Amino acid sequence: MELRLKERLGRKFDEEIRFFKGWIDGPKQVGAIIPTSSVTAKRMASIIDTTSGLPVLELGPGTGVITKAILKGGTEPQNLVSIEYSTDFYQHLMRTFEGVHFINGDAFDLDRTLDTLKHQKFDCVICAIPLLSFPMERRIELLEDLLDRVPAGRPVMQITYSPVSPIIAKPERYKIKHYDFVMRNIPPAQLWTYTRA
Ligand SMILES: C[S@@+](CC[C@H](N)C(=O)[O-])C[C@H]1O[C@@H](n2cnc3c(N)ncnc32)[C@H](O)[C@@H]1O
Repeated sequence: MELRLKERLGRKFDEEIRFFKGWIDGPKQVGAIIPTSSVTAKRMASIIDTTSGLPVLELGPGTGVITKAILKGGTEPQNLVSIEYSTDFYQHLMRTFEGVHFINGDAFDLDRTLDTLKHQKFDCVICAIPLLSFPMERRIELLEDLLDRVPAGRPVMQITYSPVSPIIAKPERYKIKHYDFVMRNIPPAQLWTYTRA
């Protein structure tokens, strides 16, 4: 087998083992049991406007598949702020992606987690937190908080495995759009976007 292919398969296997270990430690926080596919990650990252001059906010990067797609799409590492709750994943991310502003903290407590960046506007939010593990009120609170941190009309992108939006409709507060259904993901993924009404 060609050396590069062997290395790539080895890295993918490492990622899956790391992910599975994370899942054993905190199945509710991690959600899925296999990392997001690169196809899904690319679709999620495609909503970023790299010309906006604003940084991107990523939530729940895990092993970094979506982080990688964001950087590959043209976002400079210093323009990516990424919040991961698990210290193991955080340490792995810090070693893997030089220059990205990773924060080991809780996305549900954003002012405290973002600290000096708490007044920063972001171009958009790319979120892989398993929302279905959290009560609906907390999901809505998180979404409202995120929408206050992006310019009007810019999206919060959310991955889920549920065929319906993981956040209930509030047409007077925000618009929900089904963005994509990605079969090449285990399990197949649904992508939703939320923007201010
Ligand atoms: C489904 S996994 C993301 C998978 C990732 N796309 C990958 O392929 O590796 C969800 C991630 O969200 C993180 N997470 C869960 N709750 C969080 C929170 N409150 N704040 C920040 N990250 C959180 C988990 O630790 C986990 O890494």
